[in-house]
Amino acid sequence: AQFADAAVLRGEGGETHQVAGKDVPVLTTQQGVPVSDDQNSLKIGPRGPALLEDFHFREKIFHFDHERIPERVVHARGFGAHGFFEAYESLADVTSADLFQRAGEKTPVFVRFSTVAGNKGSADLARDVRGFAVKFYTKEGNWDLVGNNIPVFFIQDAIKFPDLIHAAKQEPDRGFPQAQTAHDNFWDFMSLMPETMHMALWIMSDRAIPRSFRFMEGFGVHTFRFVDGKGKSTFVKFHWKPKLGMQSVVWNEALKINGADPDFHRRDLWDAIQTGNFPEWELGLQLFDDDFADSFEFDVLDATKLIPEERVPIRRVGRLVLDRTVDNFFAETEQVAFHTGNIVPGIDFTNDPLLQGRNFSYLDTQLKRLGSPNFTHLPINAPKCPFHTLQQDGHMAFHNPKGRANYEPNSWGGAMGGPREDPDRGFRSFPAPEAGDKRRVRGELFADHYSQARQFYVSQTPVEQTHIQDAFVFELSKVETPAIRARIVSHLINIHPDLARSVAEGLGLKDMPKAAQPARKVIEDLPPSPVLSIVAN
Ligand code: HEM
Repeated sequence: AQFADAAVLRGEGGETHQVAGKDVPVLTTQQGVPVSDDQNSLKIGPRGPALLEDFHFREKIFHFDHERIPERVVHARGFGAHGFFEAYESLADVTSADLFQRAGEKTPVFVRFSTVAGNKGSADLARDVRGFAVKFYTKEGNWDLVGNNIPVFFIQDAIKFPDLIHAAKQEPDRGFPQAQTAHDNFWDFMSLMPETMHMALWIMSDRAIPRSFRFMEGFGVHTFRFVDGKGKSTFVKFHWKPKLGMQSVVWNEALKINGADPDFHRRDLWDAIQTGNFPEWELGLQLFDDDFADSFEFDVLDATKLIPEERVPIRRVGRLVLDRTVDNFFAETEQVAFHTGNIVPGIDFTNDPLLQGRNFSYLDTQLKRLGSPNFTHLPINAPKCPFHTLQQDGHMAFHNPKGRANYEPNSWGGAMGGPREDPDRGFRSFPAPEAGDKRRVRGELFADHYSQARQFYVSQTPVEQTHIQDAFVFELSKVETPAIRARIVSHLINIHPDLARSVAEGLGLKDMPKAAQPARKVIEDLPPSPVLSIVAN
C-alpha cells in the first residue's frame, strides 16, 4: 500500500490537517469549491454555536444521511467481479445470439455471487443457495443469466415466491433467526409444499456450503429457448462448470469459518483475482427439441426438475474468466441490476411460470431499490454497445434523447428524426402457438415431487448421503414443533427409506410417521446420476 505524503499541520485545537500539494489533490465540495478546513465546522468563537450557513458541513452531513439504499429483498449479500466470456465455437446452428456466432469472440461480463436469505451483513458460509448472476455486455444489448448454484428451485410458480422468502427469512414477531433453514416457519412451509422436496435435498447437501465461489457450479435453472437465424427454436438449459472442480466444506468447518471470518468467500474471490489466479467456468448447454421435451416424464417447464446430464449430455461452448475486481463495491456490486427479462435476439423465454413471474419481479424491485427508472444509465448497468431510446426524464436522467424528436413515427429527417425500428436486426419473440382456458391450474406433469429427489439422493456417495442426513437432523432439531419435524420425515419416506429412518432416529422420533400421500406415482427405478456427486467430480 502507498501511504499519503500529504503535509501535516496541527490546528489550534491540536487537530490534524493534511494539506494538498504535489500529487495530492485538493478536497472540494460537490460544487468543486476547494475546502480549506475539513476538521472544524463554522462557529462563532472557538466553542460555538455552529452556523447554518456552513454549506460545506451541511452538504457533507446531508450526503452521509442518504448513503444507504434498501438492500436486495433477496440475495442481499453478494460479491461481484468483472471478466469476459469467450466462445469456443459458433453456435449459429442453434442461435442467432451475436455473442455465440464466432469462435474466439470475447464478450465483457460482470458476475455477482450471493447468498439468498441472509441480510447484507450476514456470514458467507450460511447453509444456503448461492446466486450466480452473469451480465453479458453483448454487441446486441445486455443479456443477464440470473442463475443459482443449484439446478432446481423450491417452487414451481412465482406466486409462491413471497411466501417462500417470508418463511425463509427471520420470523416477523421475533426478528430471528437469520439462518434460513433452522426454524419452524421455514420447515413448516417446506413440509406443506411437497414441490420443495427436491430442492430440500440439494440444500441439505454439501452444495449449500461451497468452499468458495470458485468451486461452485452455476445453473440458469429454467428451460430457455434458443432461436436460430431462420426462426427455429431449440430448448436450452444453461450450466456453468468450474475449471477447479467442485469443493465444499463440512458443516463443522462452516460454523467455525463463519465465526472466524464471515467474509471468507468474498475474501477468497478478491485474493484470487488480485494474485492473478483468475477463476474460470465453462458454459455448458443442454439442447433438446420439442419432441424430446414431450417425451420426458416431467414437464421441462417445471423449475423443480432437472434434465439428467446422461439423458442430454452437456455441450461446452465457451469459458467465463473473472480477471478484474471492482473499483468500488457500491457503484458496481451493489448497484448492478440483473434481470431475467434482459435477453437478446436469439434467446427467448419459455412459459415456465416461475420464469414468467421473475420477468415481472426484477424490474419492479430494482425501481424501489435503486430509486429511479434511470438505473439502467449507471455505468455497471448500461450496455456497452450503442443504445438509443426515446425514454426521457425522471430522476437522474443521464441519457435523454438528443435533438428534437422524442417520439416516433415523426416527420424529421436524418439524425434529427431520432432512432427507428429495424425489422431485420430487432428482437422478435418466438411465435409459439398458445391457446387454452384462462384458469389457475398446474399441469399434471408438475405433480411428481419425489422421484428426482430420490434420484439425487441415490446419486450421492455414502459420505455425502451421511452429510444430507446430518444436515436434516441439525436443521430440524432447531424446529420446536414436533408435528413439523414429523411432516418432513413423512416426505423423506417417499424419497428414500434410509434417509427417512436416519433422520427420524437422529431427531429421536418415537414412531415413524406415515408416508405423505404422493400426488403422482414415484418413479423408483430412475438410475443414479453420478455426475451430480461432488466427490465424483
Ligand atoms: C435476486 C436468482 C427466483 C425475485 C436474485 C439474484 C439471483 C437470483 C442470482 C441476485 C442477483 C444479484 O446478484 O443482484 C434466482 C433464481 C430463481 C429465482 C435462480 C429461480 C430459478 C425468483 C423468483 C422471484 C425472484 C420466482 C420473484 C417472483 C428476485 C428479486 C431479487 C432477486 C426481487 C432482488 C433483485 C434486486 O434487488 O436487484 N435472484 N431467483 N427470484 N430475485 Fe431471484
